[in-house]
Amino acid sequence: MKKILITRKLIKSSEEYASKIFSVKLNTQDKLLTKNELIDKSKDCDGILSSITDKLDANIILKLSDQVKIISNFAVGFGNIDVEAATKRNIIVTNTPDVLTDATAEIAILVLLGAARRAKEGIEWVKKKDWTWSANFLIGKQLTGSRLGILGMGRIGRAVAKIAKTFGMKIHYYNRNRLNKDLEKDAIYHKSLESLLSVSDFFSINCPATKETKNIINEKTIEYFPDGAVISNSARGDMIEDEAMVKALKRGKIFSLGLDVYNGEPNIHPEYLNLPNVFVLPHLGSATKKTRVAMADLAISNIDEFFKTGKCINAIN
Ligand code: GLV
Repeated sequence: MKKILITRKLIKSSEEYASKIFSVKLNTQDKLLTKNELIDKSKDCDGILSSITDKLDANIILKLSDQVKIISNFAVGFGNIDVEAATKRNIIVTNTPDVLTDATAEIAILVLLGAARRAKEGIEWVKKKDWTWSANFLIGKQLTGSRLGILGMGRIGRAVAKIAKTFGMKIHYYNRNRLNKDLEKDAIYHKSLESLLSVSDFFSINCPATKETKNIINEKTIEYFPDGAVISNSARGDMIEDEAMVKALKRGKIFSLGLDVYNGEPNIHPEYLNLPNVFVLPHLGSATKKTRVAMADLAISNIDEFFKTGKCINAIN
């Protein structure tokens, strides 16, 4: 029986599933493992089932025992893993696409709506108990009939588009490659980011974190947005240059921002907490029971498939 280290606590049924097919090392206290603990605990293991909170950089990967042949990430994103370093060590890296698409798209829409309709300020007023309905109270921006720019038209971007269309939004997108007609539906493709930004009354970030997308929304690109745009990020914090965004929020260039993800989570730019026009959630994209079970089970099956066949359909490298 192959032995695997599961770095974080999973939902019980998934841990039971893993225990049936592997000899498992569980993290019953769900304590974040330090770099040394990760190296140490995986020493006699054939695989690691990692989470986005495990920073598997080149340094750690170099020190993993030769026995480790697979890192199965319990996420669709894999910015926490140095895939190049893993490839050099002949370690396969896998992720969990598809199963979290709908849950994550729901959160993308939630943070977009929360920002647009001033949910943060609304909650504060309700807590203070001294508000009165009035015609001019907490006037927000309406999604219906507006243009939504989507950065990254992969599975999640397309699921966001599908929901946004039910609000009557017109979808525009920018992606590494133009989608084929079947996938594109009636969304409008832009050849450049700047062109997309210039029509984005609303904007949803749904691309992966890569060297190319790091700080893609920055002091310069922010200027392309229509004045008073609403932005949401449910992908990774890396895509937004926070200082530039804070300035744009303060001067009203950007009306409001909805965030589920942050640079250096759980850290957050302190101004995002102070500003009334920033609606925040703690990285809840895939946080439904159905989705978390499906993700964990897929991360486990990825390891099983790899040991049975020598490859895996969800391999990244
Ligand atoms: C969650 O953020 C994921 O990448 O799965």
